[in-house]
Amino acid sequence: MKKIAIISSSVRRGRKSHRVALWFKRYLEENKLATAEIIDLKEYSFPVFDERLKKQENPLPEALEIAARIGSADGVIIVTPEYNGGYPASLKNVIDLLTDEWRSKTVAISTVSDGPFGGTQVITSLQFTLWKMGAWTVPAMFPVPNVSVAFDEEGRPADPEGIAKRAARFTGELIRCIEARSLMND
Ligand SMILES: Cc1cc2nc3c(=O)[nH]c(=O)nc-3n(C[C@H](O)[C@H](O)[C@H](O)COP(=O)(O)O)c2cc1C
Repeated sequence: MKKIAIISSSVRRGRKSHRVALWFKRYLEENKLATAEIIDLKEYSFPVFDERLKKQENPLPEALEIAARIGSADGVIIVTPEYNGGYPASLKNVIDLLTDEWRSKTVAISTVSDGPFGGTQVITSLQFTLWKMGAWTVPAMFPVPNVSVAFDEEGRPADPEGIAKRAARFTGELIRCIEARSLMND
C-alpha cells in the first residue's frame, strides 16, 4: 500500500484547516487507499528558515525527521489555508528547508478558507514553487470553503457523502500519479 504524508500547514492559534488534514487521514485509511500520516507543522514549530537543510552543519533533529518523513512518502497532500491570497509562512519555511525530498515527489494540494472561495488563490503560487523544486504536482484541486461549517473540530464533515465523492476524484488522481511515478527507474 502506498504511503501518503499529509502536511497540515497552519500553525495559527485556533486553526481550522487542520480539520481537513484529520479528515483526509481517516478517509485514506478507512477506504484502504493508502497508509497516511499527518506532518503537523504546528507540532514542529520550526524557527524561521536560515539555510537549506543539506547545507546546515548542525541541523535540528526535527528538521532531519521531517526530511525523512517527506522523503520516504510515496505522495504528499498539502493542506493549506489561504492567507492574504497566498500560503502561510510556516509552509514556505519547510518547502525551502528541503531540496531533494521535493524532487519528483508527487504532491496534491488542498486549499482551505473560512469564506466562500476555498482558498483557491493559493494554487498559482504554491504550484509554481513546487514546480520550481521539481515536484510533480497533480492537477486535481480540493478546495474547502467555509471550513468551520464544513468540518467539526475532530475533522468530521457536515456532508460526508458529498465530500467523499470529491475526495475520490482527488485522491484517485494522486494515487494514479504515484503509480505512474513508480514506473520510472531513477
Ligand atoms: C493572516 C490571515 C489572512 C487570511 N487571508 C485570507 C484570504 O486571503 N482569503 C480567505 O478566503 N481567507 C483568508 N483568511 C481566513 C482563513 O481562510 C481562515 O483562517 C481559515 O480558517 C483557514 O486558516 P486556518 O487553518 O489558519 O484557520 C485569512 C486568515 C488569516 C489568519
